Amino acid sequence: MSGKKLLIKHAAELVTCVGSAPKQGQAMSDIGIIPDGALLAEDGKIIWVGPTAELPALDESQWEVIDAAGQCVMPGFVDSHTHMVFGGYRAEEFFWRLGGTPYLEILERGGGILNTVQATRAAGLEELKELAGRRLAGMLAMGVTTVEGKSGYGLDKETELRQLAVMSELNREQPVEIVPTFMGAHAVPPEYKGRTDEYVEYIIKDVLPAVAEQGIAEFCDVFCEQGVFSLAQSRRLLEAAKNLGLKAKLHADEIVPLGGAELAAELDACSADHLLQASDAGIEALGRKSTVATLLPMTAFCLREPYARARAMIDGGAAVALATDYNPGSCFSHSIPLVASLAAIQLGMKPAEIVTALTINGAAAVSRADRVGSLEIGKQADVVILEYPSHLFLVYHAGMNIVDKVIKHGQLIWN
Ligand code: NIG
Ligand code: FE
Repeated sequence: MSGKKLLIKHAAELVTCVGSAPKQGQAMSDIGIIPDGALLAEDGKIIWVGPTAELPALDESQWEVIDAAGQCVMPGFVDSHTHMVFGGYRAEEFFWRLGGTPYLEILERGGGILNTVQATRAAGLEELKELAGRRLAGMLAMGVTTVEGKSGYGLDKETELRQLAVMSELNREQPVEIVPTFMGAHAVPPEYKGRTDEYVEYIIKDVLPAVAEQGIAEFCDVFCEQGVFSLAQSRRLLEAAKNLGLKAKLHADEIVPLGGAELAAELDACSADHLLQASDAGIEALGRKSTVATLLPMTAFCLREPYARARAMIDGGAAVALATDYNPGSCFSHSIPLVASLAAIQLGMKPAEIVTALTINGAAAVSRADRVGSLEIGKQADVVILEYPSHLFLVYHAGMNIVDKVIKHGQLIWN
């Protein structure tokens, strides 16, 4: 059996997530469920989707057959916001924060992101690759078939490029597709302390052109936050990145309401992420644009910050995605099940909206909605099969990994 042709049949529920992307507002509830569903894939692509009873006649001995009776079949998850390439850990900071020290104060003192910068600068490419490779295997086991990864723990040209090189090598060597984002403006490194404008200048003149020339990042992201990068600095950085052909993302309104949501909408960024403190005007602006509002509820959970106003966003017409924000500081977890549970319980999202947010809208947040994020003819056969018969179990089986099988490009890669 070459494994080239795949037939999945008798899925109790086949969740297609078809429709134009990103799904905004009410459309997030349309997830296109086919009861007793089936799917055919050939050469890594989906060639047929429908009820099992309507499958075209075929010789099953020529196909790899998966009987998904009693199971739910859905698109592979897209984790559209992570910082997964890093050296070192910051376990002690978690407890400082529980003891009352604010996240931004730890950063201001040279800890936080800057702690990880020190460890990442000291790590070689092979070490970073080995660590990130193991993390990717853990994500795959939770059904993630596409993941975004950011640089931003180098804050100098050499280390930023090394982090991006780790992602491009891993893209060739393991099955989870990585979407690389350059985030040189994640913090101001110690050598530029108190000289943020000069650091922005350095990124624009020196680092961004090297990143663009090597073609190893698709997106540029900025931590737009009080005491980190201002709105004006963020705008400058993202405009410079766009001029070099990179698409824009923004860490917006995470801790302090600065107007990041409004800026992301104004710049037609691909996504505005976090948004815990997004203003009414920012939420309205996102409702008018296709900029994806990427919510990261595990970060609010770990930082004990208020949750983003997901209901206002969806009811106001915005496209919401959910992602983990996996990183060694504000959220050391890549648990898709925990994201799903928090989205339901704390963000008030409906199960169907959660599915959309983890699939097609995640794909849109990384500019991949034409290829992944839904089960429809012509798309990549990236599929997750759950142990249980409906998508409701993603939330209901709280915090548990219920992924039974993962298929990437039509190949069963995790079982
Ligand atoms: O998305 N806020 C900035 N960046 C990450 C945290 C990175 C870190 O703490 O190492 C975030 O929360
Ligand atoms: Fe982040």
